[in-house]
Amino acid sequence: MPEKIILAYSGGLDTSVAIRWLKKDRGYDVIALTVDVGMDRSREELQSRALAAGAEKHVWRDAQETFIRYFAFAALSAGARYQGHYPLATALSRPLIARELVEAARTEGASAVAHGCTGKGNDQVRIDVSVHALAPDLKIVAPLREWEMDRESEMAYAHEHGIPVSVTKASPYSIDENLWGRSIETGVLEDPWLEPPADVYLWTKAPAEAPDEPRYIEIGFSQGVPVSLDGKPADAVSLIKGLNAIAGEHGIGRIDTVEDRLVGIKSREIYEAPAATVLLAAHEGLESLTLSKDQRRLKSRLAQEYAEIVYNGLWFSAHHQDVAAYIQSTQRHVTGDVRVKLHKGSAAVVGRRSPKSLYDFSLATYDKTDQFDRSAATGFIEIWGLPVRVQAQAQLLGGEQPQ
Ligand code: ARG
Repeated sequence: MPEKIILAYSGGLDTSVAIRWLKKDRGYDVIALTVDVGMDRSREELQSRALAAGAEKHVWRDAQETFIRYFAFAALSAGARYQGHYPLATALSRPLIARELVEAARTEGASAVAHGCTGKGNDQVRIDVSVHALAPDLKIVAPLREWEMDRESEMAYAHEHGIPVSVTKASPYSIDENLWGRSIETGVLEDPWLEPPADVYLWTKAPAEAPDEPRYIEIGFSQGVPVSLDGKPADAVSLIKGLNAIAGEHGIGRIDTVEDRLVGIKSREIYEAPAATVLLAAHEGLESLTLSKDQRRLKSRLAQEYAEIVYNGLWFSAHHQDVAAYIQSTQRHVTGDVRVKLHKGSAAVVGRRSPKSLYDFSLATYDKTDQFDRSAATGFIEIWGLPVRVQAQAQLLGGEQPQ
């Protein structure tokens, strides 16, 4: 009996060719697993492609809700953007896909799992590290890391073995997408000096072509998690889908950046993340009202740490659990509404309110209802400035004058 292998199957050329290669060159019975994290492909189409390529069976897992609730929203609570830009859509999906691979391997009695990641990217690291954290006994095969084929030879291989390749889906770019965002690489984008051509973008209008009239939306949060749109309660998946459409229409969420991969390469990346962009801004707007200065300061440092953890494939680590526990705890009063103005590529927070707000009008106001005790300010400044005065006298004023 041949051993069984579970292949993470997207339906593209790489993973279709991989089915045949794993079967023919490696002697596995291949079970193709598609983890749906919000992809624009039909189950029937993928199934027939997988079987035509030589899979024993095609398994489909709808993981959209899990992905948004436990992966994307965790990163939202953290305020995570890798290197200040990338909301981590692709990176967040990898540990979930790895977990599904492991589960399928257990259910099907497989001894190995496979994926279509190349040997130059971050995704291979994320999937391999995650699979082995959960199941150290499973063998991992990464056909694209092993075979010597370029895209042309892959096409020829597909042709030779009667593997259907949809020509219409052929794109000059390497694309990965899920509900949290779309990642686009390669082709002309490899020149970081060149502006991305218009055909790179699919989810977002060019800001210049977006409606002249701004649109205002209201997002309701409960303990850091978005729960309503324009006053109507919405489940996680419909909320993200709705926001992607609305914000995309207004040209929001285009990101053009050069990022540092874990494997040491700088790479030019384009992202489209309309919903993520709006939600990250809105969430931060609500935190400005509901978290203290100290909480905000530590949280913004941890946002970077969290982004590194996700980007670097360390989802199933104790370090992640510890950082996530702090972040989770900070969210207990992040409840309320945020008004966002969408206009020609910008998503500006223009209003925020919360039943747990720390904003006190009577303290902040300059009008006559002011309750702030100004007379106490002098004494406060006296003590606050004490160490600065002492040091200035002893060390700075005596010798060289400070510039
Ligand atoms: N650079 C991004 C990341 O490492 C996106 C990767 C996109 N993957 C792809 N197959 N196009 O998360």
